[in-house]
Amino acid sequence: MIAIYPGSFDPITNGHLDIIKRASKLSEKLYVAVLVNDRKKAFLSVEQKIDLIKCATEDINNVEVIAFDGLLVDLLKDKNANFVIKGLRAITDFEYEFQMAQLNKDMNVKAETLFMMSSPEFTFLSSSAVREIYNFGGDISGYVPKCVEKKINNIKEVEGRRK
Ligand code: PNS
Repeated sequence: MIAIYPGSFDPITNGHLDIIKRASKLSEKLYVAVLVNDRKKAFLSVEQKIDLIKCATEDINNVEVIAFDGLLVDLLKDKNANFVIKGLRAITDFEYEFQMAQLNKDMNVKAETLFMMSSPEFTFLSSSAVREIYNFGGDISGYVPKCVEKKINNIKEVEGRRK
């Protein structure tokens, strides 16, 4: 199967990486797709997000990191993909994800969404929590891949946002 794991990845966390590793074992090819036209004010640029995901996934052969703009159903067609992968951490994620999955299926009957339950050690983790901890000077090393932590520190140092 060809699968797409879409998201904002602002930044990629250990929880995302866990889903990527597990989903890559079920797929011939897994596209990690970073949304470009995000309405939320981003912590990182799309290029930075992609660079971070690439460094976190460089040892997984069948993963390709891409940017996407527009509708996910159109990306599925473009990439000839049959599945969307989504992670579910808790029941609070369900309502929104269920709506998205139904809408995507309504727009493209071939758009099947596969939900993977988050591993227990990551159920509390989110990109927004990582951003908040980082912005208040906390330690994010337990929450993001090692190379991601290093790169975020470099980016923010260059941008003069920290240290
Ligand atoms: O990491 P996120 O913010 O939960 O990711 C959300 C994402 C990118 C998966 C979702 O916003 C998305 O698929 N956006 C593309 C536009 C689209 O197809 N929307 C669904 C129909 S309204």
